[in-house]
Amino acid sequence: MKNTKWALITGASAGIGAEFAQQLAAAGYSLLLVARREDKLLEIQSALQEKFNIECRYIVKDLSIPSANLEIFEFCHNNNIRISYLVNNAGYGVPGDFDSVDWETHHKMLQVMLTSVTELTHLFYPAMKAQREGFIINIASLAGLVIPTAGHTLYGAVKSYLIKFSHSLHLEAKDSNVHVTALCPGFTYSEFHDVNGTRGMVSKMSKKMWMKAEDVVAQGLAAVKQNQAVYVNGWRNRMIANLVKILPEKLVRFLMKGSIKKYRKR
Ligand SMILES: NC(=O)c1ccc[n+]([C@@H]2O[C@H](COP(=O)([O-])OP(=O)(O)OC[C@H]3O[C@@H](n4cnc5c(N)ncnc54)[C@H](OP(=O)(O)O)[C@@H]3O)[C@@H](O)[C@H]2O)c1
Repeated sequence: MKNTKWALITGASAGIGAEFAQQLAAAGYSLLLVARREDKLLEIQSALQEKFNIECRYIVKDLSIPSANLEIFEFCHNNNIRISYLVNNAGYGVPGDFDSVDWETHHKMLQVMLTSVTELTHLFYPAMKAQREGFIINIASLAGLVIPTAGHTLYGAVKSYLIKFSHSLHLEAKDSNVHVTALCPGFTYSEFHDVNGTRGMVSKMSKKMWMKAEDVVAQGLAAVKQNQAVYVNGWRNRMIANLVKILPEKLVRFLMKGSIKKYRKR
């Protein structure tokens, strides 16, 4: 019999989200995938259904449109899909200084990466709590834990928000058997840097700083299973996150001066 436990993954058409789909399918979950590119979703749906004999459905949604979250929730309700695993993953970077980017672009980014994550969690969390079973992974970033930089102004701010929000919810959910984790990857191979036009810059970075989406996701699934509030992927990224906590900001800024200039597009 097919698993009736459903996982909802946003941004499942590429990169880290597509890898979550792969690994949750391997674990036997039925899947509901969300993204804008239908051709990619269709390809992933066919491949996963064939390989893992799971039920896989998708909804084409642009999460920058405010009504999308409620429409996803209603789709689940109307199709008797009970979500017990929510992966809020969709996201992208917006290069440039704050005032060089138009408000529409900032607004859409906040809708996709901040409001949608919060609203989808608000929609699906109560049923998980009532069933006393659920997993929520919010994909944040190492950028949410390190010092702020000039350029990509809202990215670090949004990811810091996701870390704090997830951590608070993690504490609230403790007695209801709902596990909530903010996952903080560092540089990860995906389409992310092609989409924001920084591939040329970031590919100069040492290969040691890069992780495969496969490893990021396997660690994320283990972290939420163990109910860790915040999980930073990879020992190098964890070392950076810890150093930032203990060293004076001026020293960190001095040490990172060269790399910030090299890898942040303004
Ligand atoms: N790669 C890294 O180095 C890195 C590091 C730290 C954190 N992260 C975070 O990891 C998450 C996944 O990124 P990734 O690296 O896997 O990037 P990616 O390969 O570019 O995938 C991004 C996903 O988000 C979806 N998406 C983007 N805008 C959307 C919208 N308006 N509505 C619905 N879906 C949308 C894309 O699908 P469609 O284009 O089909 O809509 C795609 O499936 C993001 O939250 C990112 O901030 C990435």
